[in-house]
Amino acid sequence: MTSRWHGAARRIHMQEVGTRDGLQMEAQFVPTEDKIALIDALSATGLAKIEVTSFTSPTAIPALRDAEIVMREIRRAPGVVYTALVPNVRGAERAIESRTDELNLVMSTSETHNLANLRMTREQSFAGLVQVVRAAQAARVPVNVSLSCVFGCPMEGDVPVDGVFGWAQRFVDLGVQGLTLCDTTGMAYPTQVAAITRAARERWPGIALTLHFHNTRGMGLANVLAGIDAGADRFDTSLGGLGGCPYAPGATGNVCTEEIVHALDLMGYDTGVDLPALIAASQRLPGLIGHDVPSQIVKAGQRLDLHPVPADFDTIRERALARAA
Ligand code: COA
Ligand code: ZN
Repeated sequence: MTSRWHGAARRIHMQEVGTRDGLQMEAQFVPTEDKIALIDALSATGLAKIEVTSFTSPTAIPALRDAEIVMREIRRAPGVVYTALVPNVRGAERAIESRTDELNLVMSTSETHNLANLRMTREQSFAGLVQVVRAAQAARVPVNVSLSCVFGCPMEGDVPVDGVFGWAQRFVDLGVQGLTLCDTTGMAYPTQVAAITRAARERWPGIALTLHFHNTRGMGLANVLAGIDAGADRFDTSLGGLGGCPYAPGATGNVCTEEIVHALDLMGYDTGVDLPALIAASQRLPGLIGHDVPSQIVKAGQRLDLHPVPADFDTIRERALARAA
């Protein structure tokens, strides 16, 4: 595990997706001013990027029907990229109008999942997204493309890597700035992540590559570490471990931002994130969504948050010493 290159701590870019991938799933509508306050708190923690919302159909994703207001009213911290998910040209127009820094386009590499999630074949999605890329380029707004089910589809099984890379190449040829390989339903495993990451880094050295994992089967952190070893330095993670795709059976949360930052800090990576501030932001979540979040760091504290000794510790020690005498 090489956490230090050339003497300096290796930089890992933390990209928060909880306010999009997380909140899109929640039954309870989080009031607009609470979303804005949460994003403002996250902006102050040192995250590299925040996926603020999605400009989707309000009937499809009612939880994010306030996308314009949220995007317009958050306080922008210098250096933080404020991105949003955009499914079509209508979404792109709304996002650009709301001064979104980057458009995150999404399509699935699995035909079945794409039909279930976006109601289109992959070819239809691609044709639509070409128009979105053109609209973004005309407005000089950078584009990232998130490819779903790269590490497996819950309905089809393994998705051939050649096919995945074929779709990625078509977007690279259009001139997009970033690619995200998404493990939409937590099917990725570390050796697979390493192989795919290495191949993607070699093939597209000039593209900002992000890995996006869900912790559905407990392999989230292991996959992040495998990705780092294979050359990845950008990760989508979600505050508290919120998240999951509405069209992915049994989907659970994204890898948890504070768990990943906690682990990477200990290992000597430079995440740039203020962990106590991040934990404080995560502690707001149950009050906003009405239930607990998976975060092990909120439950257990940091590794060196020490606990008091038992109340009768002196007696225990005296008895132990008396026995030894
Ligand atoms: N913003 C606002 N409204 C939109 C919209 C957008 N980006 N895209 C479509 N709509 C509206 C249309 O105006 C139409 O409204 P109407 O019924 O009042 O006329 C309605 O949504 C249906 O539009 P249509 O073009 O038929 O699209 P659709 O119903 O096939 O929806 C999607 C396609 C992809 C836009 C929609 O299903 C969606 O937003 N899904 C969310 C996907 C998602 O975010 N999944 C989770 C992340 S992986
Ligand atoms: Zn996801």
